Amino acid sequence: MSQNILDKNPLIYSCIPRITAMCGDVMFLPNDSDTIVMNGRKFADEYAERVLKPRCIGFKGKYGRLPKLVTILVGENPASESYLRIKSRFFSTLCLDSEVLRLSKDINERDLLNTINSLNNNSNVDGILVQLPLPRHIDADKVIESISIERDVEGLSPGNVHAWAKAIPNLVPATALGVLALLKYYEISLEGKHTVIVGRSMIVGKPVLHLLLKENCTVTICHSRTKQLGRHTRQADILIAAVGKAHLITADMVKKGAVVVDVGVNFLDGKLVGDVDFKTVKSKTSYISPVPGGSGPATVSMLAGNLLLAAELQKTGDNKEQKECLRDYYKNYTIVTDTNYC
Ligand code: GUN
Repeated sequence: MSQNILDKNPLIYSCIPRITAMCGDVMFLPNDSDTIVMNGRKFADEYAERVLKPRCIGFKGKYGRLPKLVTILVGENPASESYLRIKSRFFSTLCLDSEVLRLSKDINERDLLNTINSLNNNSNVDGILVQLPLPRHIDADKVIESISIERDVEGLSPGNVHAWAKAIPNLVPATALGVLALLKYYEISLEGKHTVIVGRSMIVGKPVLHLLLKENCTVTICHSRTKQLGRHTRQADILIAAVGKAHLITADMVKKGAVVVDVGVNFLDGKLVGDVDFKTVKSKTSYISPVPGGSGPATVSMLAGNLLLAAELQKTGDNKEQKECLRDYYKNYTIVTDTNYC
């Protein structure tokens, strides 16, 4: 356990007995009041202060400008708007340059590909993010794959997917990194734990699978065709809900003492809610991340980190420099999350 984390986070002291409780097969828990609500904002602020800000200042000092992200939003989507708001707030605290390109829902695929191509060739743009979902008439895979690998801050281009699937450090999807960061920040032991992921997307389910395998978890992935979902989720020491269905996970689907991370972004009666029915599930868990305020801010801080990393990598000359840059970046990720990715 890092001394720095303890110094800055008295909260973590209070986690220790329950982490110990999770080390065996049986978990003793919980009263509702014992449940720890994972604070993604607190994590994101600390990560910004200790890792991202010094790196931003270093980048500006060296290259005379801050890294720039361009987000492409096609049409309108309330979940995307919510994500963009959180992102823009967080990026402005770091003075990162962030522009949103709003395009009509009727734009054709060729015009969208041309827009991305011109951003790929703009030396003042370090990262490109295409907000999903895209309208049905556009092939989302083709669009994502058109982003140059070095500007692919979401880690979704074929080269980056190959890297994270083989646990080779490069750009990893921010939401997946955010999930791992939250688990690590709360010092939840992962080795040998049965983790059940609900959702098989390229943004969350699949990269989380690979990150957790690297942490020696046993991982099950469930999805829309899984039969008797609750039979699987009740096996989970750690349950990750990333399916995009409001309140899908109810108390009867969760093992007592489980850790639950909710990655869902849904709107129910105009309110932002997760995939987990937080009110009823909370009392069964040892740790639970809320929506909003859990995985969302952690994701955004990881995206800011990915933008910095992408910008830094684009300034490196050769393979050796790239490797040093990646090692240095993930060493800093380690400071807050205690994760040794390299
Ligand atoms: N839509 C909802 N979440 C995400 C995300 O993390 N990335 C992108 N590109 N689109 C999204």
